[in-house]
Amino acid sequence: IHANATVPAAGPANADTATQTLLSVTELSGPKEGEADRRFELTAKKASVRLSSGKTVEAWTYDGQIPGPELRMRQGELIEVTLRNADIEAGATLHWHGLDVPNAEDGVAGATQDAVMPGESHTYRFVAEQVGTFWYHSHQHSKEAVEKGLFGALVVEPAEPAPPPPGEDIIVLTHNWDGAGTAVGSFDTLQRKAVKPGEQVKLRLINTDNWVRREYALTGASFRVTAVDGVDLNEPQELSDVKLVLTTGGRYDVAFTMPDRPVYLSVDDNRELGLLLSPDGRGEAPVVAQSSETFDLTHYGNAAPTPFDADSRFDREFKMILDNRFALYNGVPALYDTINGKVFPETPMFIVKEGELVKTTIINRSAVDHPMHLHGHHMLVLSRNGERVTGSPWWSDTLDVSPGEVYEVAFLANNPGLWMDHCHNLVHAAAGMTMHLMYE
Ligand code: C2O
Ligand code: CU
Repeated sequence: IHANATVPAAGPANADTATQTLLSVTELSGPKEGEADRRFELTAKKASVRLSSGKTVEAWTYDGQIPGPELRMRQGELIEVTLRNADIEAGATLHWHGLDVPNAEDGVAGATQDAVMPGESHTYRFVAEQVGTFWYHSHQHSKEAVEKGLFGALVVEPAEPAPPPPGEDIIVLTHNWDGAGTAVGSFDTLQRKAVKPGEQVKLRLINTDNWVRREYALTGASFRVTAVDGVDLNEPQELSDVKLVLTTGGRYDVAFTMPDRPVYLSVDDNRELGLLLSPDGRGEAPVVAQSSETFDLTHYGNAAPTPFDADSRFDREFKMILDNRFALYNGVPALYDTINGKVFPETPMFIVKEGELVKTTIINRSAVDHPMHLHGHHMLVLSRNGERVTGSPWWSDTLDVSPGEVYEVAFLANNPGLWMDHCHNLVHAAAGMTMHLMYE
């Protein structure tokens, strides 16, 4: 790529980044030619939407619904998505959270494209390479856009030969709506569903909140966590009475066999909320056992070969220190969230060359969690607080780093372009905790 083939920074409508120059993205786009295997059209528009309780949310939506339409595709398919903006004055884009698409398709206003303004449209084309659970959201004024509803679930199913259809494949997308509280999909009341005993059930947990970690508990069946952030885990063991804590932007796939009694997925211990599966689709949510143990990926599942590991020789090593400090920026005194002491756009830019193996040490010196999200790449978690990951390889795109924690992660620089790396607590991202990864 031509790092010096610059074009002027996008206009003031693009508020997510403030770079002075952009890479030439012409060679970094998805396939320009060829008939798409699957096409979607999404229209960004305002709508007032009713949740199951009858409460109404004044939302920014894709296609008038919250969450937006579920996008399902198969691995290897050429996907074409056209985004139209009807009336979102702030502009909109589509970012494929967790899908490592070519840079020009990444949907980051101000970095990979201009925001799509009312009356305009933009078409994305990419090949769905990874199987798993993802989501999409606008990446123009991300904090406000995601808070208000510009997001939906995205699932890539394995290519042919098609697997036998899973008995039940259920998206559990949890979001907190301003003024209306937490909902699973559009259900802010208990959602009931009939499932035949013996069926294989897959729950795809997605947390789209800007701020809050979600706590889930599954009562009535033992289960396996089969994937994290869209990547399968190797030989996951059965679990029971373990809380699943899911960071904002993160995903867990959970699988179990439906027993002949009700199974209840609780959300944040709220008995009015969650998913109740039972043979006849009726019944009351069973009482949730108070488990003290939280699901931990450091030693879950079994080791398997990876293209690199903690003993590899790294071409680059970076350090990301997450903190905050009271400061004055652009005349605004506030508590800013910092990376290596700096507030975006003064945060460091990590510069890599294609093909390099990169190790990053992430240190949280602040008093709050930071779910760190790297675009365009999956990070292999090497160690957590000095302890090596000994279970299944653990690949993450949104890694929750708690106060005081130190993670070592590594990724292969194999997707050239200009990429965002930011906290997916989007309030923090907007308050400075954002940086770029750039290929030279
Ligand atoms: Cu889910 Cu930079 O975003
Ligand atoms: Cu944060």
